[in-house]
Amino acid sequence: MSTSDGPLSGRHIVLGVTGSIACYKALDITSQLVQAGAVVDIAMTASATKFVTPLTFRSLTAREPYVDMWHPHGEFGEAHVELARRADLMLIAPATASAMARLAHGLADDFVSLTALATEAPLLLAPAMDSQMWSHAATQFNRALLEERGAQFIGPAEGRLASGRTGAGRLVEPRAIVDEVRARLGRERGDLRGRTIIVSAGGTREAIDPVRFVGNHSSGKMGRAIAEAARDRGASVVLVTTVAGDAPSAVRVVSVDSADDMSAAIHERVGKADALIMAAAVADYRPADAAQQKIKRGEVGDISIDLVENEDIIAGVSEPNLVKVAFAAETQDLIANAQKKLASKGAKLIVANDVTATDAGFGTDTNRITILDTDGGREDVPLMTKYECAMRILDRVAELLPRAD
Ligand SMILES: Cc1cc2nc3c(=O)[nH]c(=O)nc-3n(C[C@H](O)[C@H](O)[C@H](O)COP(=O)(O)O)c2cc1C
Repeated sequence: MSTSDGPLSGRHIVLGVTGSIACYKALDITSQLVQAGAVVDIAMTASATKFVTPLTFRSLTAREPYVDMWHPHGEFGEAHVELARRADLMLIAPATASAMARLAHGLADDFVSLTALATEAPLLLAPAMDSQMWSHAATQFNRALLEERGAQFIGPAEGRLASGRTGAGRLVEPRAIVDEVRARLGRERGDLRGRTIIVSAGGTREAIDPVRFVGNHSSGKMGRAIAEAARDRGASVVLVTTVAGDAPSAVRVVSVDSADDMSAAIHERVGKADALIMAAAVADYRPADAAQQKIKRGEVGDISIDLVENEDIIAGVSEPNLVKVAFAAETQDLIANAQKKLASKGAKLIVANDVTATDAGFGTDTNRITILDTDGGREDVPLMTKYECAMRILDRVAELLPRAD
């Protein structure tokens, strides 16, 4: 994917950097925002420049950082006002205790607080400081005041701090901060804002005994990409997955193991959903009786396992107005099999993929899919990233959702 069509393409983000030991992570955040296609302007406090240089940010953004409000910036007369006006979102990461205090009380004596006061864009703060500073009554008072005014906090996380202490105060990991930025921008103006979408992902594991299972090769990457894309378009996403460790941030994750678990998790939540996208590879069969203890070699000789059919989860969900999207992973007669499934599952769409291809299907970062609909329509989507495929699927889902008014 080129930067021009990344998930943040066309978005202008002002990243405020204040003087914390975690400033070096702001470089990673900047790089990730730029790679996601955003135009990123950096505003720095004088303290921040003691930790990292404006030059490093300039190299990453190809734009001159804003540091000294008295030094005329090449581009604008009143740089902070113009910067504040152009921002789709302002992120301050890391945010020091001192910066939080200045923002809470409306001070505007450095480029970061000045721009934050002048902007009407959503303000996200990712604090980083020692745990004592974070838990101090003054900092907590400032946090509450800022939240009351609509600022959104990301973290801080718990963990080992630069001081050697362990506690709350760590900057949230750059990937999760960037995910929050994407989610927040989606909620501001994405076409799926206000919608709830359940996505299932990964291959289910059907227990043979407490240590073994019948499984499949699904990596969960397609479902993960759909969850990410739906979040970026503003949806509230519930990701029901067997690979929760790989889940994106800013989505609700429900970790499951077997087809039965997945079914229960979906049935419990589907009443409030607008769409159900079943990208998971749900086992068609499970062992009839899972052994209570580990089956040991040599004790029983050869064994055979009786399999019983699992519930067809998507076929069993029949909420009115729910847009159901099924998946068909096939090794032969792809389209004919997918068409049969579309009818039997009561889905509005089915996404077919040939899992024998080496560049598509299980485990890859790319996919080649065909989307079939109930009117006999067929859309062949050529090889592209799973995120891009997810966007194509969601374009179709968005058309099928009843109007939101
Ligand atoms: C080595 C060092 C590390 C610091 N790390 C932090 C930090 O992680 N968080 C914080 O709130 N302040 C930290 N401070 C204190 C701030 O840099 C100080 O309060 C400064 O005035 C903040 O300025 P600013 O908010 O304008 O960037 C640190 C100071 C030093 C000398």
